[in-house]
Amino acid sequence: MSHKSIIPQPGILNISPYVAGKSAATGGNRVTKLSANENPHGPSPLAKAAYIEAAGSLEVYPNSSHAPLRAALAEVHGVEAERIICGAGSDEIISFLCNTYAGPGDEVLYSQYGFAMYPISAMAAGATPVQATETNLHTDVDALLAACTPRTKLVFVANPNNPTGTMVSEAEIQRLAEGLPPQALLVLDGAYAEFVEGFNGHAALVEARDNVIMTRTFSKIFGLGGARIGWGYGPAHVIDALNRVRGPFNVSAAALAAAEAAVQDVDYTEHCRAENEKWRGWLREALASLGLPSVQSFTNFIMPQFESADAATAADAYLQTRGLVVRALSGYGLPTHLRITIGDEIACRAVTSALSDFMKGARA
Ligand SMILES: Cc1ncc(COP(=O)(O)O)c(C=O)c1O
Repeated sequence: MSHKSIIPQPGILNISPYVAGKSAATGGNRVTKLSANENPHGPSPLAKAAYIEAAGSLEVYPNSSHAPLRAALAEVHGVEAERIICGAGSDEIISFLCNTYAGPGDEVLYSQYGFAMYPISAMAAGATPVQATETNLHTDVDALLAACTPRTKLVFVANPNNPTGTMVSEAEIQRLAEGLPPQALLVLDGAYAEFVEGFNGHAALVEARDNVIMTRTFSKIFGLGGARIGWGYGPAHVIDALNRVRGPFNVSAAALAAAEAAVQDVDYTEHCRAENEKWRGWLREALASLGLPSVQSFTNFIMPQFESADAATAADAYLQTRGLVVRALSGYGLPTHLRITIGDEIACRAVTSALSDFMKGARA
Protein backbone atom coordinates (compact mmCIF):
# COMPACT_ATOMS: atom_id res chain seq x y z
CA MET A 1 0.00 0.00 0.00
CA SER A 2 1.20 3.51 -0.70
CA HIS A 3 0.61 6.52 1.52
CA LYS A 4 1.20 9.00 -1.30
CA SER A 5 -2.32 10.38 -1.05
CA ILE A 6 -2.02 11.03 2.68
CA ILE A 7 -0.24 14.35 2.75
CA PRO A 8 0.29 16.98 5.46
CA GLN A 9 -1.08 20.48 5.06
CA PRO A 10 0.94 22.77 2.74
CA GLY A 11 4.12 23.99 4.41
CA ILE A 12 4.29 21.36 7.16
CA LEU A 13 7.15 19.46 5.52
CA ASN A 14 9.08 22.72 5.15
CA ILE A 15 9.33 23.02 8.94
CA SER A 16 12.77 22.26 10.35
CA PRO A 17 11.98 20.41 13.59
CA TYR A 18 13.00 22.10 16.84
CA VAL A 19 16.41 20.94 18.03
CA ALA A 20 16.44 20.65 21.82
CA GLY A 21 19.54 21.37 23.89
CA LYS A 22 21.75 18.27 24.02
CA SER A 23 21.74 16.28 27.24
CA ALA A 24 24.67 13.92 26.66
CA ALA A 25 28.35 14.60 26.07
CA THR A 26 31.07 12.66 24.29
CA GLY A 27 33.38 12.38 27.28
CA GLY A 28 33.75 13.00 31.01
CA ASN A 29 32.19 10.91 33.73
CA ARG A 30 29.53 13.24 34.97
CA VAL A 31 27.54 15.27 32.45
CA THR A 32 26.60 18.80 33.38
CA LYS A 33 23.77 19.99 31.15
CA LEU A 34 24.05 23.70 30.42
CA SER A 35 22.18 23.64 27.13
CA ALA A 36 18.51 24.16 28.01
CA ASN A 37 18.44 26.99 30.58
CA GLU A 38 17.19 24.75 33.35
CA ASN A 39 17.41 25.75 37.02
CA PRO A 40 20.51 24.05 38.52
CA HIS A 41 18.87 24.10 41.96
CA GLY A 42 15.70 22.35 40.79
CA PRO A 43 12.19 23.32 41.81
CA SER A 44 11.07 24.55 45.23
CA PRO A 45 10.88 21.62 47.71
CA LEU A 46 7.22 22.60 48.17
CA ALA A 47 6.58 22.18 44.44
CA LYS A 48 8.26 18.79 44.44
CA ALA A 49 6.17 17.68 47.42
CA ALA A 50 2.97 18.84 45.69
CA TYR A 51 3.92 16.94 42.54
CA ILE A 52 4.56 13.75 44.52
CA GLU A 53 1.32 14.13 46.43
CA ALA A 54 -0.56 14.40 43.14
CA ALA A 55 0.60 10.84 42.36
CA GLY A 56 -1.97 9.68 44.92
CA SER A 57 -4.86 10.48 42.57
CA LEU A 58 -3.55 9.87 39.08
CA GLU A 59 -6.82 8.25 38.02
CA VAL A 60 -8.63 11.59 38.31
CA TYR A 61 -8.67 14.04 35.40
CA PRO A 62 -7.07 17.40 36.17
CA ASN A 63 -9.06 20.52 36.96
CA SER A 64 -10.10 21.78 33.54
CA SER A 65 -10.44 25.46 34.47
CA HIS A 66 -7.05 25.64 36.22
CA ALA A 67 -8.82 27.91 38.72
CA PRO A 68 -6.61 27.25 41.78
CA LEU A 69 -3.40 27.93 39.84
CA ARG A 70 -4.87 30.98 38.13
CA ALA A 71 -5.92 32.33 41.54
CA ALA A 72 -2.41 31.81 42.93
CA LEU A 73 -0.83 33.50 39.89
CA ALA A 74 -3.28 36.41 40.14
CA GLU A 75 -2.46 36.91 43.79
CA VAL A 76 1.32 36.78 43.42
CA HIS A 77 1.43 38.90 40.27
CA GLY A 78 -1.39 41.31 41.14
CA VAL A 79 -3.30 40.47 37.95
CA GLU A 80 -6.82 39.26 37.10
CA ALA A 81 -7.35 35.49 37.29
CA GLU A 82 -10.06 35.60 34.56
CA ARG A 83 -7.52 36.80 32.04
CA ILE A 84 -5.02 33.96 32.60
CA ILE A 85 -4.74 30.82 30.46
CA CYS A 86 -2.53 27.85 31.36
CA GLY A 87 -0.77 25.58 28.90
CA ALA A 88 1.55 22.59 28.67
CA GLY A 89 4.55 24.91 28.71
CA SER A 90 4.45 28.35 27.16
CA ASP A 91 5.16 26.48 23.91
CA GLU A 92 1.53 25.43 23.95
CA ILE A 93 0.35 29.01 24.44
CA ILE A 94 2.54 30.05 21.48
CA SER A 95 0.92 27.30 19.44
CA PHE A 96 -2.62 28.32 20.55
CA LEU A 97 -1.85 31.90 19.50
CA CYS A 98 -0.67 30.87 16.03
CA ASN A 99 -3.59 28.50 15.50
CA THR A 100 -6.08 31.11 16.66
CA TYR A 101 -4.79 34.23 14.92
CA ALA A 102 -2.69 33.21 11.92
CA GLY A 103 -3.35 31.01 8.90
CA PRO A 104 -2.50 30.76 5.22
CA GLY A 105 -1.73 34.20 3.77
CA ASP A 106 -0.98 35.70 7.20
CA GLU A 107 2.41 36.74 8.53
CA VAL A 108 3.90 36.09 11.95
CA LEU A 109 6.65 38.56 12.73
CA TYR A 110 9.52 38.00 15.14
CA SER A 111 12.96 39.27 15.86
CA GLN A 112 15.99 37.92 13.95
CA TYR A 113 17.36 35.90 16.88
CA GLY A 114 13.93 35.09 18.28
CA PHE A 115 12.97 31.79 19.87
CA ALA A 116 12.78 28.94 17.33
CA MET A 117 9.24 27.93 18.24
CA TYR A 118 7.79 31.16 16.78
CA PRO A 119 8.45 30.21 13.14
CA ILE A 120 7.69 26.54 13.80
CA SER A 121 4.27 27.30 15.30
CA ALA A 122 3.56 29.89 12.61
CA MET A 123 4.29 27.38 9.83
CA ALA A 124 2.30 24.66 11.60
CA ALA A 125 -0.68 27.02 11.40
CA GLY A 126 -0.05 27.58 7.68
CA ALA A 127 1.18 31.15 8.20
CA THR A 128 4.39 32.74 6.95
CA PRO A 129 7.11 33.57 9.49
CA VAL A 130 8.85 36.90 8.90
CA GLN A 131 12.07 38.05 10.61
CA ALA A 132 12.97 41.62 11.49
CA THR A 133 16.70 42.31 11.82
CA GLU A 134 18.23 43.01 15.22
CA THR A 135 20.75 45.72 16.03
CA ASN A 136 23.79 44.69 18.06
CA LEU A 137 21.98 41.55 19.26
CA HIS A 138 19.03 43.61 20.56
CA THR A 139 15.41 43.60 19.42
CA ASP A 140 14.99 46.56 17.05
CA VAL A 141 11.54 48.11 17.40
CA ASP A 142 11.94 50.26 14.29
CA ALA A 143 12.83 47.17 12.24
CA LEU A 144 9.79 45.32 13.62
CA LEU A 145 7.46 48.23 12.84
CA ALA A 146 8.95 48.58 9.35
CA ALA A 147 8.36 44.85 8.70
CA CYS A 148 4.64 45.05 9.49
CA THR A 149 2.22 44.66 6.62
CA PRO A 150 -1.58 44.38 6.37
CA ARG A 151 -1.02 40.59 6.69
CA THR A 152 0.86 40.76 10.02
CA LYS A 153 -1.29 39.01 12.63
CA LEU A 154 1.15 38.24 15.43
CA VAL A 155 4.38 39.85 16.59
CA PHE A 156 6.53 37.80 19.00
CA VAL A 157 9.12 39.50 21.19
CA ALA A 158 10.88 37.76 24.06
CA ASN A 159 12.08 40.28 26.62
CA PRO A 160 14.65 39.33 27.78
CA ASN A 161 15.37 37.32 24.66
CA ASN A 162 16.60 33.79 24.06
CA PRO A 163 19.30 33.08 22.83
CA THR A 164 20.86 36.56 23.07
CA GLY A 165 19.89 37.25 26.71
CA THR A 166 19.45 40.94 25.91
CA MET A 167 16.58 43.17 26.92
CA VAL A 168 14.96 46.30 25.51
CA SER A 169 13.32 49.03 27.59
CA GLU A 170 9.71 49.26 28.72
CA ALA A 171 9.41 52.46 26.65
CA GLU A 172 10.55 50.66 23.49
CA ILE A 173 8.07 47.85 24.04
CA GLN A 174 5.31 50.37 24.61
CA ARG A 175 6.28 52.17 21.39
CA LEU A 176 6.00 48.84 19.56
CA ALA A 177 2.56 48.10 21.02
CA GLU A 178 1.34 51.57 20.05
CA GLY A 179 2.78 51.45 16.55
CA LEU A 180 1.47 48.07 15.38
CA PRO A 181 -1.22 47.87 12.73
CA PRO A 182 -4.69 47.32 14.18
CA GLN A 183 -4.97 43.64 13.18
CA ALA A 184 -1.70 42.62 14.89
CA LEU A 185 -1.45 41.14 18.38
CA LEU A 186 1.82 41.67 20.27
CA VAL A 187 3.04 38.63 22.21
CA LEU A 188 5.55 39.47 24.92
CA ASP A 189 7.32 36.28 25.85
CA GLY A 190 8.47 36.52 29.46
CA ALA A 191 10.05 33.08 29.80
CA TYR A 192 13.01 34.75 31.54
CA ALA A 193 11.20 37.67 33.20
CA GLU A 194 11.71 36.35 36.74
CA PHE A 195 15.48 36.63 36.36
CA VAL A 196 15.14 40.43 36.16
CA GLU A 197 14.68 41.88 39.64
CA GLY A 198 11.44 43.83 39.98
CA PHE A 199 10.25 43.06 36.42
CA ASN A 200 6.82 41.57 35.84
CA GLY A 201 7.04 40.79 32.14
CA HIS A 202 5.18 43.94 31.00
CA ALA A 203 2.02 42.99 32.93
CA ALA A 204 1.09 46.67 33.22
CA LEU A 205 1.15 47.05 29.43
CA VAL A 206 -1.13 44.04 29.11
CA GLU A 207 -3.47 45.72 31.61
CA ALA A 208 -3.47 48.94 29.66
CA ARG A 209 -3.97 47.68 26.11
CA ASP A 210 -6.12 45.23 24.18
CA ASN A 211 -3.45 44.24 21.65
CA VAL A 212 -0.84 42.77 24.02
CA ILE A 213 -0.54 39.34 25.67
CA MET A 214 2.35 38.07 27.77
CA THR A 215 3.43 34.45 28.05
CA ARG A 216 5.28 33.01 31.04
CA THR A 217 6.73 29.64 31.97
CA PHE A 218 7.44 27.43 34.95
CA SER A 219 10.30 25.78 33.06
CA LYS A 220 13.05 28.28 33.85
CA ILE A 221 13.39 29.92 37.27
CA PHE A 222 10.77 27.59 38.78
CA GLY A 223 12.70 24.50 37.69
CA LEU A 224 9.65 22.64 36.35
CA GLY A 225 10.65 22.10 32.71
CA GLY A 226 9.87 18.40 32.99
CA ALA A 227 6.34 19.08 34.26
CA ARG A 228 5.42 21.15 31.14
CA ILE A 229 3.50 24.12 32.40
CA GLY A 230 3.27 27.76 31.39
CA TRP A 231 0.68 30.51 31.26
CA GLY A 232 -0.48 33.58 29.42
CA TYR A 233 -2.03 36.84 30.58
CA GLY A 234 -3.92 38.88 28.04
CA PRO A 235 -7.01 40.87 27.11
CA ALA A 236 -10.32 39.12 27.82
CA HIS A 237 -11.16 38.83 24.11
CA VAL A 238 -7.87 37.01 23.41
CA ILE A 239 -8.11 34.66 26.41
CA ASP A 240 -11.66 33.80 25.38
CA ALA A 241 -10.53 32.89 21.85
CA LEU A 242 -7.54 30.85 23.07
CA ASN A 243 -9.72 28.89 25.48
CA ARG A 244 -11.80 27.74 22.52
CA VAL A 245 -8.84 25.93 20.97
CA ARG A 246 -7.44 24.64 24.28
CA GLY A 247 -8.12 21.00 25.11
CA PRO A 248 -10.02 20.62 28.39
CA PHE A 249 -7.26 18.68 30.14
CA ASN A 250 -4.19 20.21 28.50
CA VAL A 251 -2.22 20.50 31.74
CA SER A 252 -1.65 17.54 34.07
CA ALA A 253 -2.87 17.56 37.67
CA ALA A 254 0.66 17.06 38.98
CA ALA A 255 1.96 20.01 36.95
CA LEU A 256 -0.88 22.23 38.16
CA ALA A 257 -0.21 21.30 41.80
CA ALA A 258 3.56 21.80 41.48
CA ALA A 259 3.16 25.15 39.73
CA GLU A 260 0.75 26.44 42.35
CA ALA A 261 3.20 25.59 45.14
CA ALA A 262 6.12 27.00 43.13
CA VAL A 263 4.60 30.40 42.44
CA GLN A 264 3.68 30.78 46.11
CA ASP A 265 7.21 30.01 47.29
CA VAL A 266 8.46 33.52 46.59
CA ASP A 267 11.46 33.20 48.93
CA TYR A 268 12.78 30.24 46.97
CA THR A 269 12.27 32.05 43.66
CA GLU A 270 14.16 35.06 45.00
CA HIS A 271 16.97 32.79 46.20
CA CYS A 272 17.28 31.31 42.69
CA ARG A 273 17.20 34.77 41.09
CA ALA A 274 19.95 36.09 43.38
CA GLU A 275 22.16 33.00 42.87
CA ASN A 276 21.73 33.28 39.12
CA GLU A 277 22.64 36.97 39.12
CA LYS A 278 25.73 36.33 41.23
CA TRP A 279 27.10 33.50 39.09
CA ARG A 280 26.09 35.12 35.81
CA GLY A 281 28.21 38.15 36.66
CA TRP A 282 31.05 35.93 37.83
CA LEU A 283 30.99 33.76 34.70
CA ARG A 284 30.75 36.70 32.33
CA GLU A 285 33.81 38.32 33.86
CA ALA A 286 35.75 35.08 34.04
CA LEU A 287 35.11 34.29 30.37
CA ALA A 288 35.83 37.87 29.30
CA SER A 289 39.22 37.65 31.00
CA LEU A 290 39.90 34.55 28.85
CA GLY A 291 39.17 36.59 25.71
CA LEU A 292 35.56 35.45 25.39
CA PRO A 293 33.36 38.53 25.72
CA SER A 294 29.58 38.35 25.93
CA VAL A 295 26.77 40.84 25.55
CA GLN A 296 25.07 41.72 28.86
CA SER A 297 22.51 39.05 29.70
CA PHE A 298 19.36 39.50 31.77
CA THR A 299 18.59 35.77 31.78
CA ASN A 300 19.98 32.51 33.16
CA PHE A 301 22.46 32.05 30.33
CA ILE A 302 25.25 33.95 28.65
CA MET A 303 26.48 33.91 25.09
CA PRO A 304 30.28 34.17 24.82
CA GLN A 305 31.69 35.03 21.41
CA PHE A 306 34.61 33.15 19.85
CA GLU A 307 36.98 34.48 17.21
CA SER A 308 35.38 32.32 14.51
CA ALA A 309 32.66 29.77 13.90
CA ASP A 310 35.34 27.06 13.79
CA ALA A 311 36.62 28.14 17.20
CA ALA A 312 33.10 28.01 18.66
CA THR A 313 32.56 24.54 17.19
CA ALA A 314 35.91 23.34 18.55
CA ALA A 315 35.13 24.80 21.98
CA ASP A 316 31.74 23.05 22.00
CA ALA A 317 33.44 19.73 21.17
CA TYR A 318 36.13 20.29 23.79
CA LEU A 319 33.58 21.16 26.49
CA GLN A 320 31.83 17.88 25.74
CA THR A 321 35.02 15.94 26.41
CA ARG A 322 34.99 17.58 29.83
CA GLY A 323 31.38 16.50 30.43
CA LEU A 324 29.98 19.98 29.80
CA VAL A 325 27.06 20.29 27.39
CA VAL A 326 26.27 23.76 26.08
CA ARG A 327 24.22 25.10 23.19
CA ALA A 328 25.69 25.66 19.72
CA LEU A 329 23.90 28.51 17.96
CA SER A 330 24.52 28.08 14.25
CA GLY A 331 20.84 27.13 13.89
CA TYR A 332 20.03 30.59 15.20
CA GLY A 333 22.44 32.27 12.79
CA LEU A 334 25.00 32.91 15.54
CA PRO A 335 27.78 30.43 14.65
CA THR A 336 30.56 32.30 16.48
CA HIS A 337 28.69 32.14 19.79
CA LEU A 338 27.83 29.42 22.28
CA ARG A 339 25.00 29.72 24.78
CA ILE A 340 25.85 28.58 28.27
CA THR A 341 23.25 28.17 31.02
CA ILE A 342 24.27 29.65 34.37
CA GLY A 343 24.70 26.53 36.47
CA ASP A 344 25.62 26.32 40.13
CA GLU A 345 29.03 27.36 41.43
CA ILE A 346 30.64 24.02 40.57
CA ALA A 347 29.33 24.18 36.99
CA CYS A 348 30.42 27.80 36.47
CA ARG A 349 33.92 27.01 37.73
CA ALA A 350 34.09 23.85 35.59
CA VAL A 351 33.12 25.75 32.41
CA THR A 352 35.66 28.45 33.15
CA SER A 353 38.43 25.97 33.80
CA ALA A 354 37.63 24.01 30.63
CA LEU A 355 37.45 27.13 28.45
CA SER A 356 40.69 28.39 29.98
CA ASP A 357 42.40 25.16 28.88
CA PHE A 358 40.74 25.43 25.47
CA MET A 359 42.00 28.97 24.98
CA LYS A 360 45.50 27.77 25.89
CA GLY A 361 45.33 25.36 23.00
CA ALA A 362 43.58 22.25 24.31
CA ARG A 363 41.39 20.59 21.66
CA ALA A 364 39.00 17.64 21.56
C1 LIG B 1 11.95 32.56 24.90
C2 LIG B 1 11.30 31.27 25.24
N1 LIG B 1 9.97 31.18 25.15
C3 LIG B 1 9.31 30.05 25.43
C4 LIG B 1 9.99 28.92 25.81
C5 LIG B 1 9.19 27.68 26.03
O1 LIG B 1 9.23 27.24 27.30
P1 LIG B 1 8.22 26.15 27.87
O2 LIG B 1 7.42 25.60 26.74
O3 LIG B 1 9.06 25.15 28.54
O4 LIG B 1 7.35 26.93 28.81
C6 LIG B 1 11.37 28.94 25.92
C7 LIG B 1 12.12 27.72 26.28
O5 LIG B 1 13.29 27.59 26.09
C8 LIG B 1 12.04 30.15 25.63
O6 LIG B 1 13.37 30.24 25.69
